[in-house]
Amino acid sequence: MSNSNLEQLPQLVQSRVNEGGTRDEILLDICKLINQKLDAYDWVGFYIVDPTQERMLKLGPYVGDETDHIYIPLGKGICGQAAETLETFVIDDVNKESNYLSCSINVKSEIVVPVFKNGEFIAELDIDSHKIAAFGKKDQEIMEEICRIIEPVF
Ligand code: SME
Repeated sequence: MSNSNLEQLPQLVQSRVNEGGTRDEILLDICKLINQKLDAYDWVGFYIVDPTQERMLKLGPYVGDETDHIYIPLGKGICGQAAETLETFVIDDVNKESNYLSCSINVKSEIVVPVFKNGEFIAELDIDSHKIAAFGKKDQEIMEEICRIIEPVF
């Protein structure tokens, strides 16, 4: 069930993008869609390049527990590393990471996927799970597809 839910997501996200609205309305609805469809996806949110500061990410729309990490400098934590390397990070066990920013003690695994606008890094999708190694190859592929679909939202 969870795998078919995963496969349905790109089309649902595309439909939501097509409906229009403000950037943050669309991104929040996409967070909700992802969070509702997949049980293991406990926190789903976006960090967006902060146009007012150098090398800084700012928390955008999200669903899940509140986080202290409203701003994340490039290079810091998993989010900051993904922003610097421009690569997807899949972390099976966050407790084994030395460069990690904890949002809640319940979080066990995490995926961070960069979003590009006209080839430029603009944001990232960050998902936390309370399960160890919640994000497999298929999860990565689908989240990367979603991050391509949402390019026009930015
Ligand atoms: N764990 C992230 C910080 C963001 S919170 O999980 C929402 C990191 O290490 O960058």
